Amino acid sequence: MCGIIAAASSRNVGKLLVRGLHKMEYRGYDSAGIALHQDNSIAHLRAVGKVQLLEDKMIAEKPKSKLGIAHTRWATHGEPSELNAHPHKSKDSVYIVHNGIIENYVELREELIKDGYEFSSQTDSELIAHLLDLYYKETKSMVNAMYKAKEKLDGAYAIAAINIDDNSNLVVARNKSPLLLGIGSDEILAASDPIAIAELTNDFIFLEDGDVAEISAETYKIFDNTKSKANREITHIDISTQATSKGDYRHFMEKEIYEQPEAVSKTVDGRIGGEDVLDNIFGLGSSDIFAKVERVQIVACGTSLHAGRVAANWFSSIAELPCQVDYASEYRYRNPHVDQNSLLITISQSGETADTLAALNYSKERDYLSSLTICNVPTSSLARESDFSLFTNAGPEIGVASTKAFTTQLAGLMLLALSLAKSRGLNPKLRGRIVKALRLLPETIAEALLLKDKMLEIAPNIANKNNALFLGRGIFYPIAKEGALKLKEISYIHAEAYPAGELKHGPLALIDENMPVIALAPESEIAEKLISNLEEVKARGGTLYVMADPSVNMDVKSGSLVHMPKCDFFMTPIVYNIPLQILSYEVALLRGTDIDQPRNLAKSVTVE
Ligand code: F6R
Repeated sequence: MCGIIAAASSRNVGKLLVRGLHKMEYRGYDSAGIALHQDNSIAHLRAVGKVQLLEDKMIAEKPKSKLGIAHTRWATHGEPSELNAHPHKSKDSVYIVHNGIIENYVELREELIKDGYEFSSQTDSELIAHLLDLYYKETKSMVNAMYKAKEKLDGAYAIAAINIDDNSNLVVARNKSPLLLGIGSDEILAASDPIAIAELTNDFIFLEDGDVAEISAETYKIFDNTKSKANREITHIDISTQATSKGDYRHFMEKEIYEQPEAVSKTVDGRIGGEDVLDNIFGLGSSDIFAKVERVQIVACGTSLHAGRVAANWFSSIAELPCQVDYASEYRYRNPHVDQNSLLITISQSGETADTLAALNYSKERDYLSSLTICNVPTSSLARESDFSLFTNAGPEIGVASTKAFTTQLAGLMLLALSLAKSRGLNPKLRGRIVKALRLLPETIAEALLLKDKMLEIAPNIANKNNALFLGRGIFYPIAKEGALKLKEISYIHAEAYPAGELKHGPLALIDENMPVIALAPESEIAEKLISNLEEVKARGGTLYVMADPSVNMDVKSGSLVHMPKCDFFMTPIVYNIPLQILSYEVALLRGTDIDQPRNLAKSVTVE
């Protein structure tokens, strides 16, 4: 959470820093701030609320500067307020921005108070400014001060700092929170996400844990954990501005929903050939490792976890492998037993989710055969720290609610189920059938997007309620859970999901005319049973909205029966999720919520 950006340039940097904050607003948006070096003083502006409010202050005050740092916040320690907003300062001399969490902040704060430092915020970050001030006085070097501070700090951090004594250099440090440098012409930048500076450069250096870098407009020096000079590779990435702007759509979420046919093509293209999945698409040697796999463990959070729950079913039916799925935040705390030849799979859009990374790191101490990530960001920590990976190629997902990331994760996980089956010499005919269905998937998703008009009819009936219940059975239960998550996070309507058979064991008590029930009824052996469960809802006055196979017919009274496009059964979880995304979006639109940046949430959850 939180986004930091810093720039040393031969031109004024105020505007470009604020523009970078706008691009990173998905990381946190409860307050923002900037510190700009002005030779004899440092201009320090902060605002509670979105970055636009900081920009308004900048427009009014017009501070000029060639060296600065800025921050957009997602509160962890201390409410969103101007005093808690970054940058934090020490004695008007050192200013810092920080993304991450300092775990030993209580004891460090007490030590610094004894040293005479005063605190004006409730954050864990302010002490970093004081530590740097203390050690700068001792060492007369911000790089050395940063190393001394690092010895004290426990936790995760990306830090950028400036000092009143130096109007041309800034210092950054990284440990377990993303941070990269951007090499521009006559300027060097640092940011939490390449998106923040993609308009200024395509050349990035991804810092490693333990790195400290000193940056000026002309040059940069990187030092590693042992304080030795480090040569880090420059990575060229072309992030088009089209990918990071809304175009004619009202929200990024809407754009990302309608991008899904293309996004899925990019996940699948070049990874299947003829009637099978290609070898080694998860990395060199992956097919050989897959042949040894006897068990699969998935860890992920939120929407990515739902993708994992669908995939567990595929691993079982296509690759004939047992699979366990855990919340990444819970996995370490159940003392998991690891069977021989187990494969650990992480799933993540950002590749920076702290709980998922922590689970991966924990797994390294256990006896796993190998680790693999399905991830959308090739430069992310998960991608770097896993043995094998498959990038979903969905392009930047900026709306906080995950849509195209989920759909492409499912396509990637299907490729994994096929690869595992292939390496284990299983089910060639079924593999051929699924590969064919994957080729048709973008077209089927495009057809499902045409259900928008039907969702527009249903949306007002959900928007005026306070609760909603989603029902699915089997592989559709995680899709029901994903539907409920999407609705609650962007419309703030309380929504829950149940396997339909569980209804009569308790939740049926909730059913009345104020409880809309959204059910998924694909054609399969489970549809018949599900329909009986839905009759139980109807008999109690509940309104039914049923997404169903064209062969399913039932009287839904005042509700709606929506017939879904026909497709291979293995593709149905992906396709049935599409109208649920549209429904949530249209409901949220009617309720006037902040769809791309829902309250209390942030896109990249880099704290545990
Ligand atoms: C919900 C949503 C979150 C994320 C979760 C994991 O719409 O986006 O539940 O899925 O925070 O994030 P990643 O996939 O980046 O690890």
